[in-house]
This record gives sequence, C-alpha cells and structure tokens, in this order.
Amino acid sequence: MKPARREFLKAAAAAALALPAPFARAASGSEDKLKIGTIGSGNVGGTLGSVWVKAGHEVMFSSRTLENDKALAAKLGPRAHAGTPREAAAFGEVLLVSVPYGSLPEIGKELGDLLRGKVVIDTCNPFPGRDGDIAKWAREKGVGLASAQLLPGARIVRAFNAIGSSSMGEAHERPGRVGMPIAGDDAEAVALASRLVRDVGYEPVLVGGLAMGKYLMPGTPLAGEHTPAEIRRIAATLK
Ligand SMILES: NC(=O)c1ccc[n+]([C@@H]2O[C@H](COP(=O)([O-])OP(=O)(O)OC[C@H]3O[C@@H](n4cnc5c(N)ncnc54)[C@H](OP(=O)(O)O)[C@@H]3O)[C@@H](O)[C@H]2O)c1
Repeated sequence: MKPARREFLKAAAAAALALPAPFARAASGSEDKLKIGTIGSGNVGGTLGSVWVKAGHEVMFSSRTLENDKALAAKLGPRAHAGTPREAAAFGEVLLVSVPYGSLPEIGKELGDLLRGKVVIDTCNPFPGRDGDIAKWAREKGVGLASAQLLPGARIVRAFNAIGSSSMGEAHERPGRVGMPIAGDDAEAVALASRLVRDVGYEPVLVGGLAMGKYLMPGTPLAGEHTPAEIRRIAATLK
C-alpha cells in the first residue's frame, strides 16, 4: 500500500473514533435512527430506501414524478414518505443521490443551497451513451471529484456504485459477506455512510478519498462482488 494512502486511511479511522454528536451516535449503530432523503427513487434509490425503512430509518423518496414516490412510500408504511427533491433534501440528515449522471448538474443547481454541508451518498455512474458529454468529462476528471464539483459543499461519499440493485435488496439477508468499496474525503460523512452501508448488509471498505472514486464504477477491478479482504487487496494495487 502506498504511504500516502496508508496515512489517509489511518487518519480517517482516527477521526471516526472521535466524532461529534450526532455523527458518533449515528455512526456507532446505536439506537438513533436517521432521516434519509433519496434524490432519485428508481432501481437503486427505491431499493436502498426500502431496506433502510426496514432497518428502522425514516426515508423520504423523491424524483420528478411524485406519484411514483407516493406509491412506493405507501407500500412501505409509516416510516416512508414521498416528496419533491427539495423536500427530500431538506428532510434528510443524510441524502442518497441516485440519478442518471446527466441529471447531476440540474440537481446541483436546483438543490445546491440544501446540499451544502450535507452528507451525500453518491451512487451515480457516468455513461456517455446515456448521459452525454457530462459523462465523458466526469470519466476524464475522475467520477468522485466530478460529483464534488457538480454538488459543491456536499460531503460526498461514493458507495453502491458497481453492484446490481437487485443484490442491494438481498444483501441484508447475509450481512457482511460482501464488501462495499466506498470513497470520501470527509471522515464524519464516511462514518455515517458506513453505518448505512452496513444496514444494507455490506461491510464497508474505505478505499481512499474522493480521488479514488474513479475506481468505484462498473468496469474497474473493484466492480462486482468481493469479500472485504479482496477489496483491500485490489485497492492496494490501484493509485
Ligand atoms: N441499476 C443498478 O443496478 C445500478 C447500480 C449501481 C449504480 N447505479 C447508478 O445509480 C444511478 C441510479 O440508477 P438507477 O438504476 O436507480 O436509475 P433509474 O432506475 O433510472 O432511476 C433514476 C431515478 O432518478 C430520478 N431522476 C432522474 N432525474 C432526476 C432529477 N433531475 N431530479 C430528481 N430525480 C431524478 C428518476 O425519476 P424521474 O425520471 O421520474 O425523475 C428515477 O427515480 C445511476 O447513475 C446508475 O448508473 C445503478
């Protein structure tokens, strides 16, 4: 492992041990439940939000199609809500942004004031065929750093990027078996996201800062299902 990466991971672990409330309570997996807003409630947002509702969190689903979000929330019971993207962004202590990459500039513009300072879990992957030029730019820049530029001030953690959404709905049945590579620059945000990754059934493995986010997408060595040990081994070979 490269010395700079080792130092980063050590610092992140140390910071996670010294978190201020409410991050410490939330990151520890104690009884406190979180309010989560999803921006996008399709395959990924709908699946992850549903698992988090089952885990006891309160979730507000949002998209540009409120009736879909209302129907989803109605199926999940009283801890599930539906709202506009602005309502969900205001509701969530933590946000899941899970939209086609081409929608991120609009989200940054429309929700920018609400995203500033918020922990944002970013599942979004750039595909030029679907998302156009913004995807080419994001791939060139590195997708973690690109998301940070499009959602300024958000405390971004990349996670859930290269595992199919149907697996995301089943992982809690065999918790911890599969690792989830995550990347982020903000230790508190990483700790909070790690808890939510565990609630979905994966063992989070911090592979580095947002610059490492470029490896958290389909088509990289970290994509697909790996044990936590395998993820650590693969990540150590990347730069
Ligand atoms: N599918 C997978 O297995 C998988 C796995 C890992 C990562 N990903 C990535 O995660 C992201 C989401 O994937 P997905 O499969 O969940 O996509 P999806 O099923 O197409 O869902 C996208 C959601 O985003 C909403 N949306 C789109 N533009 C929006 C906007 N401007 N504001 C608010 N909501 C918006 C859509 O609803 P409306 O159109 O009604 O607004 C929909 O609810 C993508 O970037 C994808 O590449 C997918």
